[in-house]
Amino acid sequence: MFQKIVQEKFNILKNKQDVLVLGIESSCDETSIAVVKNGREVLSNIVSSQVDIHERFGGVVPEVASRNHLLAIDNVLEKSLKEAKTSLSEIDAIAVTYGAGLAGALMVGVSYAKALAYACRVPLIAVNHIKAHISANYIVDKTLQPPFIALVVSGGHTALIRVDDYVNQTLISTTHDDAVGESYDKVAKVLGLGYPGGPKVDKLAKLGKANIEFVKKPSNNLVFSYSGLKTAVINYVHKLKQGNCEVPVEDICASFQKHVVSELVEKSLLACKKHNLDTLVVAGGVSANSYLRELLKEKGVKNSVKVIIPPFEYCTDNATMVASEGYFLIKNGKGLADLNLTADASINLKYSNQLEE
Ligand code: KG4
Ligand code: ZN
Repeated sequence: MFQKIVQEKFNILKNKQDVLVLGIESSCDETSIAVVKNGREVLSNIVSSQVDIHERFGGVVPEVASRNHLLAIDNVLEKSLKEAKTSLSEIDAIAVTYGAGLAGALMVGVSYAKALAYACRVPLIAVNHIKAHISANYIVDKTLQPPFIALVVSGGHTALIRVDDYVNQTLISTTHDDAVGESYDKVAKVLGLGYPGGPKVDKLAKLGKANIEFVKKPSNNLVFSYSGLKTAVINYVHKLKQGNCEVPVEDICASFQKHVVSELVEKSLLACKKHNLDTLVVAGGVSANSYLRELLKEKGVKNSVKVIIPPFEYCTDNATMVASEGYFLIKNGKGLADLNLTADASINLKYSNQLEE
C-alpha cells in the first residue's frame, strides 16, 4: 500500500514545478541533513561533525561513528527544518546516501530516512555518495549542465568521470590501488601528523620546498596509482629515522603534494581534451586541497577549460549534495527505493559505461 502511494507521488514529482527534497548523509563521520529546492537552491544545510571525537583515535572508529550519528540525528533534523523555515509536511521526497561508506554509519541514515519516508508518505530516494559529491557542483554553479568532466578525489576514490547527462555517467579512469585521500592520510600518519591527514599535509606543504623526487614523473595516460609513491615516502622517512637524521616534514609534504596535485591537474585537463569538453568540476574531500584549487584554476585558464571547485563546505561530506542528486534522479524517473533499502558499504562507481584507457 505504502509503495503504491509513493509510486504515484513519485510520478507526479517528475512534472511538479517546485520540489523540496530533504537529504540525509551519514556515510562516515558527519551527520548532515539539508533541505534543497529544485536541486540547486539550499534552504538549509546542517552538518554535525565528529572529527574531534575520532581525532584522538587517529582515524574514524566505525562503531563510535554509528553511535554518534544516532545521538546527533534528531537534533540535526530539527535544526535543518527550522533553518529552512519548513516542516516535514512540506517535504516532497527524502533522499539518503545508501553507500559507499561505513556500514553501521550508513545504516543510521538509511533507517532514519526509511522511517521518515514511511511516516510522511513520501518517496524514498537512494543516493550514491560519490555521484552526490559531483552533484554538489549543481548547487555551486547554477548554470552548470552536463556534459562535463568530473575529477572525483576522496578518501575512497580517485576517478575521472564523464558526466553525460543528469543521471548517466561514464567512468573514464580510476586508481589501480590507493585513493588519493588515503595516500594523504597514510603520508600524514608516517610523519606523525595525525588524523585527518589531508588538511595537515596541505598546511605544512605551504611552508616547505618541493625538492625531493620520491618517484619518477607519472605516466601520461589517464590512470592513477599511489602505492609506489606512498611506499617511497615511507621508506624515505624510515631511512632518515634509522640514521638518526632530522626528518624535513615540511619539504616532504611539499614534494608529495606537488607530485600528486600536478598529476591530478594534468590528467584532468587531458581528459577534457580527449573528450572534447571544456568544463571540469571537482568533487570529494580532497577538492579542499589548497594547491589543487590554485593549480586547477591557473591551468584551466591557460587551457580554456572552465573549472568549478565547490567552496569548502560543499567539498566535505554534506547533505545538500545528497538532496541535489536526489532531485535530478526524481526528475529523470530514477532512484525510487522501497522500505527494503539497505546500506551498501562497498558500492563502487556503479557505471554501466566504462572506458578502457
Ligand atoms: O569525501 P570525503 O570527505 O570522505 C570520503 O572519503 O568520502 O574525503 C575525505 C578525504 C580524507 O582522506 C582527507 O584527508 C582528504 O579528503 N582531505 C584532504 C584535504 N581535506 C580533506 N586531502 C588533501 N588536502 C586537503 N586540504
Ligand atoms: Zn565523501
